[in-house]
Amino acid sequence: MPVINGKVIDILFTEEAIARRNAEMAAEIAAAQPRNLLVLPILKGSFVFAADIIRALYRANVAPEVEFITVSSYGAGLTSGAVRLLHNIQSRIEARDILLIDDILESGKTLHFVADLLRQQKPRKLALAALLDKPMCRKTAIEADYVGFTCPDKFVVGYGMDAAHAFRQLPFIGTLRD
Ligand code: IMP
Ligand code: MG
Repeated sequence: MPVINGKVIDILFTEEAIARRNAEMAAEIAAAQPRNLLVLPILKGSFVFAADIIRALYRANVAPEVEFITVSSYGAGLTSGAVRLLHNIQSRIEARDILLIDDILESGKTLHFVADLLRQQKPRKLALAALLDKPMCRKTAIEADYVGFTCPDKFVVGYGMDAAHAFRQLPFIGTLRD
């Protein structure tokens, strides 16, 4: 069991399991034959996942462009109350295929907010990918087209995801033992 910043981490998803699943997801994304694909990670939480997915897409012969969108949730809570746009995309997405990427789909408010914003620009196709899905926490009617793993209703860290700005560097995903 790794100990980081004095905290014991119980591993839920290993580096190897994540890599295997990313390759499968990239194959699913490729099978949908995206055209002029723009991969759009939601920062910050999804940056590690997105970096691995675009390289898995390379191995699946998909050549996307990449842009970023940054949002933040109001309130200090773990997940969003209201969502606020901090950094918007710079290019036009009209008539393009967009793959919107987030780390976790929980209440659904984050993906719902960003997806709504993007739909106003009339993309040809908007697909949603989330590495982790906590379907038991949903408060908005939204599902992802591509899901890495169903996650138990626990607060997780690592692989881009943080607790108070720490633990993003972990190559695996786990929970903090208290
Ligand atoms: P939603 O808007 O409730 O779907 O929450 C999604 C966002 O909350 C994600 O983008 C994460 O940044 C954050 N989040 C939700 N659950 C966790 C968790 O277990 N660990 C770290 N961040 C989380
Ligand atoms: Mg996030």
